[in-house]
Amino acid sequence: MLPVGAGRGSLNVRPGLRFDRSFVRMAWGDDRPLIVEVGTGQGENVVAAAADHPEFNFLAVEVYDPGIAHTLLLAGKKGLTNLRIAQVNAPELFDVTADSTIHEVWTFFPDPWPKMRHHKRRIVQPALADGVHRTLIDGGLWRIATDIEDYALHVHEVMDGRADFRNIGDLTVSLPTEHVGKGTADQAREMPHADFLESERFAGRILTNFERKGLDAGRRIHDFGYQTC
Ligand SMILES: C[S@@+](CC[C@H](N)C(=O)[O-])C[C@H]1O[C@@H](n2cnc3c(N)ncnc32)[C@H](O)[C@@H]1O
Repeated sequence: MLPVGAGRGSLNVRPGLRFDRSFVRMAWGDDRPLIVEVGTGQGENVVAAAADHPEFNFLAVEVYDPGIAHTLLLAGKKGLTNLRIAQVNAPELFDVTADSTIHEVWTFFPDPWPKMRHHKRRIVQPALADGVHRTLIDGGLWRIATDIEDYALHVHEVMDGRADFRNIGDLTVSLPTEHVGKGTADQAREMPHADFLESERFAGRILTNFERKGLDAGRRIHDFGYQTC
């Protein structure tokens, strides 16, 4: 666990923390490029990635106690030395991260917050995109995936108009151009649609329960890659 939280059960970042390359060198013991996964859930994906890619350092950022415990268990079983875990509110960690510290950021199957009035709770937001952009290296990538069509539209709305990120997708996907909120897929089908660019499934992601549930329910998985420019 990384000592980045404010303590006593708080999910805030501790006052005075500066997350920069020298912090990374101290905490991981070396200077390998850093991949940060935001909202790692049970940790299956970040643990598998860290085991498969010893050439990178990995940081799992998660707020949920049982998810953290499970991630620690999986990482311990594999004897990983290149993974650290931070139990803090992810956007706050980006606020205290120095420019150009991170190689890639991953956000897979973020909480959908389907009700229209809760969309502002979705983790992909302009402010987080600012933080991700600033802390990524030049040419760094933010990979996002969701099985929720309405969230896919939300990602396009937040990200596609930005001049500082390039959508590297080359798949054309048709999506409704309005939000259904808690509405059904049938309602969404009747709405006006437009074409958007998305990416092939990221081969570096293992199939977690969240992705499997989406597939079992017949939902399409939307993968995105946004590169800093
Ligand atoms: C739907 S789960 C997906 C988990 C995992 N990415 C997967 O695909 O299995 C979303 C996760 O994001 C975490 N999360 C939500 N808001 C967060 C925040 N502000 N900071 C860190 N993690 C957050 C939740 O606790 C939850 O575990």
